[in-house]
Amino acid sequence: MKRYDFDRVIDRHGSGSIKYDNLKATFGSEDLIPMWIADMDFAVCPEITETLKQRMSHPIYGYAAPAESYWTSILDWLDRRHDFKVGRQEITYIPGVVKGIGFAINFFSKPGDKVIIQPPVYHPFKIVTEGNDRVVLPNPLIKTETSYRMDLEGLERLARDEKPAMMILCNPHNPVGIQWDANTLREVARIARENNMIVVSDEIHGDLMLNGRPHIPFLAVSEDARAVGVMLGAPSKTFNIPGMVSSWCVIKNPELRDRFFHWLDTNEFNVPTFTATIATEAAYNNGEPWLNEALEYISDNIDFTRRYLAERLPVIDMVTPEASFLVWLDCRNLGLDQEQLVKLFVNRAHLALNDGSMFGDEGRGYMRLNVACPRSVLTTALDHLHDALAPAIKQ
Ligand SMILES: Cc1ncc(COP(=O)(O)O)c(C=O)c1O
Repeated sequence: MKRYDFDRVIDRHGSGSIKYDNLKATFGSEDLIPMWIADMDFAVCPEITETLKQRMSHPIYGYAAPAESYWTSILDWLDRRHDFKVGRQEITYIPGVVKGIGFAINFFSKPGDKVIIQPPVYHPFKIVTEGNDRVVLPNPLIKTETSYRMDLEGLERLARDEKPAMMILCNPHNPVGIQWDANTLREVARIARENNMIVVSDEIHGDLMLNGRPHIPFLAVSEDARAVGVMLGAPSKTFNIPGMVSSWCVIKNPELRDRFFHWLDTNEFNVPTFTATIATEAAYNNGEPWLNEALEYISDNIDFTRRYLAERLPVIDMVTPEASFLVWLDCRNLGLDQEQLVKLFVNRAHLALNDGSMFGDEGRGYMRLNVACPRSVLTTALDHLHDALAPAIKQ
């Protein structure tokens, strides 16, 4: 028996959501189905909402002290869900994963230093690096027939020859949905340690593993990884609460950790709001049944998309994600340049997807589709796409 209703269509217009209320500013039109920004169109689990309501009904919102049970909820979650043990002193709050990347770049490198990223990849990796006057060293993923793999030879060459201060790893990888296997992660860690490179591992999608696949935290794979790794995670993607701004950072190596955590502490970057801690604790302690159902629903949406494309739009291919709710659509067979492709989605199909090229030049010819929505919305969106393409692909 299902406990939660993921078919319910919730009108988010006017709720201050980027995904809905920034359509005009970003795409030039309101008349679009929003399938871009990576949050879900599903109601948050009632266990979180009820806890927040209860706290909000207390009439004083003063300075808050995070309860010890907040920390325990995160540590228990990582142990229970990912078989990954973290000590209380090894974790700190951070106000967002992208901010965490920014903190790490500012703290562990200096202007002019080089930072490896692996495009196509979540665009803030480049924006944060360059915006802080560091230099991006791209080590593009290698396209395989059905997915991608990491270019470990390229990584080793760049690490040895260019002496980067840091690498930003996306594990699992947005937008291509890969959970890197343990051997690949071990190689990354070895290369990093041999070349004095810190690895910031963004694991925000790690709880969203599909079809029972395990998430492999970077810090879990080897001593090398624990020596060089800065792990960033959050309940935000997992439980659809990114507006709560609640994330965490784990570092095992005390030499990196003590200095960095001290700097975060001195600047009070590690001070959570009370809504963040309360929502996090409720999510990790009581949200697991909701998450398991959400993942099944998402997995079915991915299967539905794959079948729909195969049967009705075979000109578009997709990478089947191992994690999360983002589907990387390969539209190269349409033979359009990127501007024409984006125009087709926006003006003809009335869909707001992420333009693949925002994740790097390697994303040209691709679009990123967010399928964390009710099946009826996904069906309408794919029908729109089908109708927009019908004149071009008479079968
Ligand atoms: C890989 C990755 N990292 C970070 C974020 C954003 O995290 P935050 O909102 O905590 O900055 C996203 C959101 O889509 C993401 O996909």
